[in-house]
Amino acid sequence: SPGLQTTSDSIRSHDADHGKYADVNWDELEFGVVPTDYMYTMKCSKGDEFSQGHLTPYGNIELSPSAGVLNYGQGLFEGLKANRTEDGRFLLFRPEENALRMKMGAERMCMPSPSPQQFLDAVKRTVLANKRWVPPTGKGTLYLRPLLMGSGSVLGVGPAPEYTFLIFASPVGSYHKGRAALNLYVEDKLHRATPGGTGGVKSITNYSPVYLAQKQARAKGFSDVLFLDSLTGKYIEEITACNIFILKGNVISTPTIDGTVLPGITRKSIINIARDFGYQVEERVIPVEDLLEADEAFCTGTAVVVTPIGAVTYQDKRVEYKTGKGALSQKLYEVITGIQTGRLEDKKGWTMEI
Ligand code: COI
Repeated sequence: SPGLQTTSDSIRSHDADHGKYADVNWDELEFGVVPTDYMYTMKCSKGDEFSQGHLTPYGNIELSPSAGVLNYGQGLFEGLKANRTEDGRFLLFRPEENALRMKMGAERMCMPSPSPQQFLDAVKRTVLANKRWVPPTGKGTLYLRPLLMGSGSVLGVGPAPEYTFLIFASPVGSYHKGRAALNLYVEDKLHRATPGGTGGVKSITNYSPVYLAQKQARAKGFSDVLFLDSLTGKYIEEITACNIFILKGNVISTPTIDGTVLPGITRKSIINIARDFGYQVEERVIPVEDLLEADEAFCTGTAVVVTPIGAVTYQDKRVEYKTGKGALSQKLYEVITGIQTGRLEDKKGWTMEI
C-alpha cells in the first residue's frame, strides 16, 4: 500500500515497486472512475492565497456538513488529459487554458483560485505520481479532474471562509462507448443556462440540473440532449457535457460564447485546426433550423474529444448526418488526437511535456 508518505521520493519508489503499468485491462476502459494512487490537495484558509499543496493517497476527504460546497454548491471543476506518447513521454494538452478558465470561473463564484503556476504544478505532480495509470498510447488517457470548492462552514447564504483545491485522476476510454455517433434529442422545455447565469463557467451547479432532460431522452432511446437558448428557445447552445459544431458546404458554425455556452478548450482548438484545413469558421447565433439543414454535425470537449452526431430529433422532425471515415469530424479527431498523443508534430505549441 502507498501508506501515508507524501514526499516525491516515496512516490518515486512506489512507482518503481509497481512497474511501468498499473493492473488495468486497458482494452476495457470506459469513461468512469478507476481509483489511482495519489490525489493533490491545497487549501486557502485566509485571504486569497493558496498555501503549499501536497499529494496524499487517493481516498475520501473530510468535509464539515456545513461546508459551502455541500449546502450552496459553491464549487467549480476542470477536466484535462495526460497522454502517454509511443516513446514513453507524458503530454498535457493546453493545461494553462484550464488554469485560466478556473480563475475566471472562480471570480464568478466568488472564490479565490490557485495561481496558474500553482495549478500547472499541481497537475504535473498529480500525473507524475500516477504515471503507471496513464494508459498505453491509443488505449485511453489519464483524465485529471481539478476541483475548487468552498470547504469552510457557512449557514447564511454567502461565500465560505475556507477553500480547497483538489485534483484526482482516473484512466479513461471514450466518453461515449466506441465514440459511437450521437442520437441527439433537442430539448425544448428544460434549460441548461440563462443569460447572466453560470453557463459560461464550469460551475458544478451546471451539471445535475441536466439529469432530468437526460433521463427523459434516454428513456426514449436517445443518447444525449442538446439544449436551446432559454430566452427564445430558437437557437442551439450546448450538449450536456460538450460544445456543438455544424457544417454546411465549406462553412463550419458553432454557437457564440456569450455567457451561456462553455468556452471549451477543444472547441477553441478545433476552430483553429478547421481554419488550417481551409474551412470558414463562424462563431454565431445558430437557429435550430440551421442544424436541421446541416451536412454534418459533431460535438467537441475534453471528454468527448470530437464525436460525430448521427441524428437529431427536434419536435417531430428527425434528420441524419454523415458520420464515419469520410466525415470532417473524423479528420478533425485524427489531427487533434495526433497532436495530443505526439503522433503528429505539435506546430502550435499546445502540448506540454512533463
Ligand atoms: C470534459 O469534457 O472534461 C468535461 O468537463 C465534461 C464533463 C462533464 C465530463
